Amino acid sequence: MVKVGIIGGSGLEDPNILLDPVTVAVDTPYGKPSDDVVEGTINGVECVLLARHGRKHDIMPGNVNFRANLWALYSRGVDVIIASTACGSLQENVEPGHLLFPDSVFDRTTGRQSTFFDGSYDQAPGVCHIQAHPTYNEKLRQVLISTAERCQLVHHRTGFGVCIEGPRFSTKAESMVFKSWGASLVNMTMMPECILAKELGIPYATTALVTDYDCWKEEDHVTASSVMKVFAANVEKAKTLFVEAVGEIGKIDWSAEILKLKTEARESVMISPD
Ligand code: ADE
Repeated sequence: MVKVGIIGGSGLEDPNILLDPVTVAVDTPYGKPSDDVVEGTINGVECVLLARHGRKHDIMPGNVNFRANLWALYSRGVDVIIASTACGSLQENVEPGHLLFPDSVFDRTTGRQSTFFDGSYDQAPGVCHIQAHPTYNEKLRQVLISTAERCQLVHHRTGFGVCIEGPRFSTKAESMVFKSWGASLVNMTMMPECILAKELGIPYATTALVTDYDCWKEEDHVTASSVMKVFAANVEKAKTLFVEAVGEIGKIDWSAEILKLKTEARESVMISPD
């Protein structure tokens, strides 16, 4: 039976969706994750929940220990990971309150630790040149899309996000440029989570929860309080999506998908023959 990891982003720190929750402290070779994980079941499927910014939301995007977070879920035996992430919209038709299932991401972060293979852990030797395309697991992405459809949640099936370093929001010049690139979203945590999941060979897909129009759209420009306000109004959508999606994920045999990704991850590591 599949075990599902869930990474809750801003506004979904402690979503209370698990039956019989048990809190587990985890340490990893890459340090401590953002918080203890919470384990329990959803629709009879075992799940491990982790709050990306900590359950008190006191870790800013650039300080999230993404490696420890992914390793923590890996060490608790999760087979697939679904995540949520609050995002600004860069396109008129992607409205606050909508969901979007990204198919790629443009990395504008600076200096985040984005590989397990940097020589800091002797059990992860070599250099890992992981393929960044496809960024998200398509089979898992399709489960999220079909679940959103079934639950009648307004959503967009494709689009890419620009992941900025933060914690500040974009300038208008930046926002206009990102928009002109054709990006649908701007956000601070899409990277390097998806890449680290690929290095571990774990199918991973994320759900963007659109909270604002960033600042390209003069009249609506983003503030921290506007993000949290829209999020609070829409958090039930994310919970519904996750609960229903976990039920669907539990019905699927993931073994071939996992084998494919684990093989790809293993073959991406270059180790000197001597
Ligand atoms: N998260 C939510 N809204 C955002 C925005 N406009 N820019 C970056 N990250 C965000």
